Amino acid sequence: MELAEAIRKRRAVRKYTDRPVDDETLDRMLKLGLRAPSGGGQQAWGFMVVRDPATRLAVAELIIAGGAEYFALMRPQKDASDEEHAAWARDYAENVMATYRHVPAFVVGLLVPRGYPESFPGGYEDDLISLSFAFQNLMLVAREAGLGTVSITAFIRWEKDRLREILGIPADVDPAIITPVGYPEEFPKGLAPALQRNFRTWKALVHDDSYGNTRE
Ligand SMILES: Cc1cc2nc3c(=O)[nH]c(=O)nc-3n(C[C@H](O)[C@H](O)[C@H](O)COP(=O)(O)O)c2cc1C
Repeated sequence: MELAEAIRKRRAVRKYTDRPVDDETLDRMLKLGLRAPSGGGQQAWGFMVVRDPATRLAVAELIIAGGAEYFALMRPQKDASDEEHAAWARDYAENVMATYRHVPAFVVGLLVPRGYPESFPGGYEDDLISLSFAFQNLMLVAREAGLGTVSITAFIRWEKDRLREILGIPADVDPAIITPVGYPEEFPKGLAPALQRNFRTWKALVHDDSYGNTRE
C-alpha cells in the first residue's frame, strides 16, 4: 500500500475481531513509529504494548467506562434524569466499544520527561507534538498491514492514575494516548452524519500568505 493510500484509508476503528496480531507486524509499527522526529531529538516518549489478557481487559474496561463519562458530558439530554442519562451513556459506550475487550493488543503512547530543563518554554508542548508524530506513524503502518487503530485521549482523561496503576507507570510519566490494535470488523467508510456536517474541506483550511485568504 502506498503512503497516500494508507493516509486516506486510516480511519478510527472501534469494532475489532479477536484475530491475533503477529509480533513482527507489531514490532514494525513500534519501530517505524519511533522513527518520527522529536523536539531537540529528545525522544521524550515511549510506547507500551499491552498483550497480557487480564491487563488488556482492565484497560478495555477503563476505556469503556471513560467513554461513558465522555458521552454523558458531551451529549446532554434534556428529558432524562441524571441516572437515566448515565445509564444511556453506559449503554452507548458499551455499544461502541464492547469489542475492545477481545482486541489482541493495546499500545499506549507515553510522555517520558527527558531533556528539557523545567524552565524551558514549551518543552511539554514539543514533547506532545513529537509523540503525536510517532503515534501517527504507528497508525499508518498499522493501516498498511490491514490493522485498525483509534487515537484515544478523551476516554482515559478521568482515569490516568488508575491507568498508571494497572500498567505500573510512574507518576511523572503521562500515558497520553492509547489505541487498540487489531483487525477491524471493517474499516469505516464515510463519516458519521454529525461529523460530516462539521467537516471542512482542505481548501477551507489552507491560507495563502495572509490569514483568512483560504482557497475556498
Ligand atoms: C487527539 C485525538 C483524541 C481522540 N480521542 C478519542 C477518544 O478519546 N475516543 C475515541 O473513540 N476517539 C478519539 N479520537 C478519534 C477521533 O474521534 C477521530 O479520529 C475523528 O472522529 C476522525 O475520524 P477518522 O479518524 O476516522 O478520520 C481522537 C482523535 C484525536 C486526534
